[in-house]
Amino acid sequence: MNIAVFPGSFDPVTLGHMDVITRAARLFDRVYICTMVNGGKSPMFTTEQRFEMLCAAVSPLRGVTAELWTGLLADYARERGARWLVKGARNGTDFDAEYGMAQINRGLEPELDTVLLPSRPELQHFSSTMVREMIKYGRALEPYMPAAAIRVMKGWRDDGQS
Ligand code: PNS
Repeated sequence: MNIAVFPGSFDPVTLGHMDVITRAARLFDRVYICTMVNGGKSPMFTTEQRFEMLCAAVSPLRGVTAELWTGLLADYARERGARWLVKGARNGTDFDAEYGMAQINRGLEPELDTVLLPSRPELQHFSSTMVREMIKYGRALEPYMPAAAIRVMKGWRDDGQS
């Protein structure tokens, strides 16, 4: 079975992430979407909130499972029996960062290779940073985020959680 992991901080999940996830689901038998802590970022949403939005967004996708992991990505991939990491690359900056991380992860797990999927041109400017700005300034989120994740967020607002 071809198993892959798509990791990220998903703060929050965007339509750019969803494009890579749906393409990965066509390429691999099983794709684990791993919600992680990015040590270099201070998130807008808690890990649990990011995970809840991600789960809502990927639940209709066959062969796709969302999980939470607080350790090293290479350890998670080994535990799941995954031989591939899938990442999206929007531009040369992403490629350079991912190239470095691919070497680190392969150093940790020699059988673990990284597959980079170039983003679709119309999604190239999408980022969680941009979506956080839209949230901050109360703009419509439908063009940027999966509807199911927006519903989860609105549910918290109605419950007075955020
Ligand atoms: O969505 P992001 O914030 O760009 O994702 C970055 C992430 C979470 C994939 C990266 O920071 C990561 O892999 N963190 C886990 C810790 C780890 O394994 N580090 C070593 C590889 S660089």
